[in-house]
Amino acid sequence: MKTQVPWREPVRFQKIDKLVIFMICIVIAIISSYKLLNYPLLNIEIITSWLITFSEILLFCGILILISRRENPTINARQIILIIGLLLISQFIKLNSETLSPLSIIVPPALIISQAMGTITALTWVSIACVNWPNTINSINNSTLFITFIASCIVSILGGKMRSRAQLLQISILVPLGAFIIQYVSFFISHQNLEIYGIDNFLTKPKDMFSDSLILAMLMLITILIMPILESIFGLLTKARLLELTDQENPLLRRLSIEAPGTFEHTLLICALAEEATRIIGGNIDLIKTGALYHDIGKLHAPNWFIENQISTDNPHDELNDPYASAEILQKHVDQGLLYAKKYRLPNAIASFIPEHQGTLKMGYFLHKAKKQNPQIVESDFRYKGPIPQSKETAILMLADGCEAALRAMDAEASDNEAIKTISEIINSRKNDGQLNDSNLSS
Ligand SMILES: [Fe+2]
Ligand SMILES: [Fe+2]
Repeated sequence: MKTQVPWREPVRFQKIDKLVIFMICIVIAIISSYKLLNYPLLNIEIITSWLITFSEILLFCGILILISRRENPTINARQIILIIGLLLISQFIKLNSETLSPLSIIVPPALIISQAMGTITALTWVSIACVNWPNTINSINNSTLFITFIASCIVSILGGKMRSRAQLLQISILVPLGAFIIQYVSFFISHQNLEIYGIDNFLTKPKDMFSDSLILAMLMLITILIMPILESIFGLLTKARLLELTDQENPLLRRLSIEAPGTFEHTLLICALAEEATRIIGGNIDLIKTGALYHDIGKLHAPNWFIENQISTDNPHDELNDPYASAEILQKHVDQGLLYAKKYRLPNAIASFIPEHQGTLKMGYFLHKAKKQNPQIVESDFRYKGPIPQSKETAILMLADGCEAALRAMDAEASDNEAIKTISEIINSRKNDGQLNDSNLSS
């Protein structure tokens, strides 16, 4: 059902982070407005207009932060600092560089923000950066500013959808080329009367436009090159990074396919199941596909202790005959998975699939076995440590994981109706157990 609410309670920031963010906003507001006070005689009108501009820019920064948090509920303080830091840098360059064109100042950050935070945040950033111009607007050609705005919007929209670095390379060539052609044509149309404008100006200006576009292309290429560094410093999760992580030649996935082929097969199956479910209810398909691939990576610590990797009928848990120790081994696939995630520098959003796909589920088989040995046992000893799914993607993965295991255990002759009944039972039991409470999935 497409009635899911795609909204989550945004992550709370620490006081120090809030303070840093607020200070950067104040600096942006000062940089953008102080020139208004550059008059020898200050009167109440000038001070009022400065005050209005100052508060307006502070308000814009607030709106930008609000929209970015709304679009990315899991956004952290470092990522907010990146967005407003880019605004600060662009305002600073605007103020101090007469030579750099608006295109080069605004388009590359728009590419970073759209890739990392999404189109809506990038469009908001672009609108603020374009309006918020500290130099007198007359010093910049109005049509250049308009072309900058359009080019930045195109980059923001396309950047949010781009799934590979190759596509990014294409826009980093096509956008500067397009901007050059439009600038050239608009210049040609508006200055047809050479006598008024002067032939010299007419010959030199297109050269400037060409060098502006060349600088823009170079800056965009540099942006693409430094993107992986920004991803690791700020913990960004771009679509290109997600796609790279799904490459099955990735060392961790290669290890899984060789050392735990059963788990690898299970992983691919639930990847397809979860992808289809996410496509129907809406959600981040690239995220869930990647998360699914890594969710059981911790089983590498002891592949043979998990049923899908047991080729012979021997189950080491039977030999162990200690439900507590078996439960510990099961929990370890989560703990060890988190260690692998750290070692292989998996982004946080991907690592969260590791504990959340198990939530605080009961380890039913061993709980039952332990109860048989001692009816007084504590049930919490046989539950995973959690947390329960915090996003609808991790919740879908939990359901897909349970369904795949149950369907695999079913008789090959079972009918579709029986399969649907089993799936409904699994979903209802997870729901009644409170596992989906924080996931924002509606029933
Ligand atoms: Fe698992
Ligand atoms: Fe699994």
